[in-house]
Amino acid sequence: MRIDVLTLFPEMFTSPLSGSILGRAQDRGIVEVCLTNIRDYATDDYRKVDDKPYGGGPGMVMMPGPVFDCFEHVCAQSSQTPRVLVLTPQGRPLTQACVRELSREDRLVLLAGRYEGFDERIRQGLGAEQLSIGDYILSGGELAAMVLIDAVIRLLPGALGHADSPRDESFEDGLLEYPQYTRPEVFRDMHVPEVLLSGDHAKIATWRREQARERTRRWRPDLLREEQ
Ligand code: ADE
Repeated sequence: MRIDVLTLFPEMFTSPLSGSILGRAQDRGIVEVCLTNIRDYATDDYRKVDDKPYGGGPGMVMMPGPVFDCFEHVCAQSSQTPRVLVLTPQGRPLTQACVRELSREDRLVLLAGRYEGFDERIRQGLGAEQLSIGDYILSGGELAAMVLIDAVIRLLPGALGHADSPRDESFEDGLLEYPQYTRPEVFRDMHVPEVLLSGDHAKIATWRREQARERTRRWRPDLLREEQ
C-alpha cells in the first residue's frame, strides 16, 4: 500500500511513523508513507497557503491553488488511482469497519488541513471523501490522519508480529475485547480467573465471549444496539 499525506506540518508525522509497528511495516515494504508539504506548492514569495474568508469571520482558509497543485503532483507519482480522503470533523465517523475497508486499498491520499477550513472548492474539486475521528475539534487534520494511518497499517498482512492478533480485538466482531491477564497469578490479592488456568480451551473461549458481551453491555451498549 502507498499512503500519501498532504500537510502543512510533515514533521509532525516523523515520530509516530517511526514507532515499532509502523516503522517495521515500512521497513518490510508492506507500506510506503509519503509526506508532502503543501507549502512547497505556494506560488508567491511569502509561500502563502491560506487567506481570510470571503464574507468575513475568524481564522484563515486554505487556498485551493497550492492544494490542487500539490494533489496533482502527488497523484502523478504513481499510476494507481488513489482513494482520496479529507480529515475533517464534518466527515463520516472513522470506525473499525471503515478502517478494514481502507486497509484493502492499494493507494490512499490523505489531506490534512487546518481546522478553520479548506476552501469549499477543494472538497468539490478533488472528489474527496470526508472522514472524522470523533465529535470534537482538533487544531488540524494531522493527528486525525495519524490515527487513520496507524489503524490501517496494523491491519495490513504482515504488519503485526502475530498473524491472528487483529481478530480478537475490540470492534473486530462488534464487541469490546475480553479481559486479559498475565503473570503473576495473584497480584495484591487480585486473582486471575480460574477458568484461564484450566487449560480447557472450549471453556476459555466461552468465558471470553461472555465477558466481551458483558463489558460491551456495561460500557458501550450503543455497540449492541448498532448490531441489531
Ligand atoms: N480536524 C479537526 N478535527 C478533526 C476531527 N475530529 N476528525 C478529523 N479531522 C479533524
